[in-house]
Amino acid sequence: MDIKELISVLPKAELHLHIEGSFEPELMFEIAERNKVSIPYKSVEEVRDAYSFHNLQSFLDIYYAGASVLLKEVDFYDMTMAYLKRCYEDHVVHTEIFFDPQTHTDRGVPFEVVFKGIKNALDEGEKKYGITSKMIMCFLRHLSEEEAFKTLEMAKPFKDNIIAVGLDSSEVGHPPAKFQKVFDEARSQGYLTVAHAGEEGPPDYIWQALDLLKVKRIDHGVRALEDEKLMDIIIRERIPLTVCPLSNLKLCVVDDLRKHNLKKMLDRGVCVTINSDDPSYFGGYMNQNFLETSKALNLNKSDLIQIAKNSFEASFMDDKEKEHWIEKCNQVQ
Ligand code: HPA
Ligand code: ZN
Repeated sequence: MDIKELISVLPKAELHLHIEGSFEPELMFEIAERNKVSIPYKSVEEVRDAYSFHNLQSFLDIYYAGASVLLKEVDFYDMTMAYLKRCYEDHVVHTEIFFDPQTHTDRGVPFEVVFKGIKNALDEGEKKYGITSKMIMCFLRHLSEEEAFKTLEMAKPFKDNIIAVGLDSSEVGHPPAKFQKVFDEARSQGYLTVAHAGEEGPPDYIWQALDLLKVKRIDHGVRALEDEKLMDIIIRERIPLTVCPLSNLKLCVVDDLRKHNLKKMLDRGVCVTINSDDPSYFGGYMNQNFLETSKALNLNKSDLIQIAKNSFEASFMDDKEKEHWIEKCNQVQ
C-alpha cells in the first residue's frame, strides 16, 4: 500500500476545523444569489485569486467577508453538509467543529439560526455518512471579554449540544489571559475548553491557555518548541496539539512545509494531530494535509498511524469510542 492509499484507508478524527472556513466559493456564490446579497467578486476564479495571504489577519479579513452571505438556517445547513461530504470522502469518521457565533450575531443573524443550521446538518451527517461530531463554540479574541460573556449567555439554551468553548481570530495582542473570567464561567457551566495559542503568538500564550484557561488541547501550538519547559509539560501530560500544516504554510507561519516542526514534535512524543483549519481557503481538506505533510517531512507508515491514533486519543469522544477507533487504526496494514 502506498502512502496515499494508507492515508485514505486510515480512520481519522478532525479536531481543528472552522466550519466557516469550509465555505467554498461556489457555494458562496449560490447562497449570495439566493439571498440577494452582493459580494465584491465577479467569479469563483476571482474569489480564489484573492486567497493569497501574508499572515493571519490578511486571511481573517477575507474569511469574515465571505461569511457575511450566510443569513438563514439553510445556509448554515448547506455549508455544514458540504463539509461532511468531504469528511466522508477522506474517511474522517469523527469531527469536532468550531463555529464563531459572533461573526453572525454581530450582523443580526440570531444565535439560534446559526446553531440549528449547523446542528441539523451534523445530525443528518451521522445518519447519512455515519460521521459522529461535536460542536465547539469559539469566542473572537479581537472582541472584548464582555462580548464573550454575552455569547456564552446566548448559548445557554443549546449548551447540552456544545461540548467546549474555544478562542480564535487575531492572536497577537489578545492573550488568553484576556478571557480568563469567561472561561472560568464556561467551565463552571460544564463546558470543556480549548484555545488557539502559539500559532503566531509566543509560547507564553500557550502557558496562559494551560494555566489560566485550563484547556484540554492547544490549537496550533507550533511555537511550543521554542520553550523547553513547556515542551516537557506537553510531552509528560500528553497535551494534544491540533496542528494544521497547510494553514501554517498559507499564513506564512512556515515558509516551506519541509521546515515544519510536526515530525520533530511527533518524534519527541508529543500528541500531535493533523487538521485542515479552513480548508476552502488553505488548499486542502484532511487527506491533502496528510499527504502534503507526509511528502514534505518524509513521514513513514508508523508516523501516519500514530497521528491518526492521536486524533482519537485527543478527541472528546468517550473512552469506549476512542478504544474502538484506535484499534481500527492498529488494524490498518
Ligand atoms: N487562527 C485563528 N483564528 C482563526 C483561524 C486560525 O487559523 N481560522 C479561523 N479563525
Ligand atoms: Zn484555527
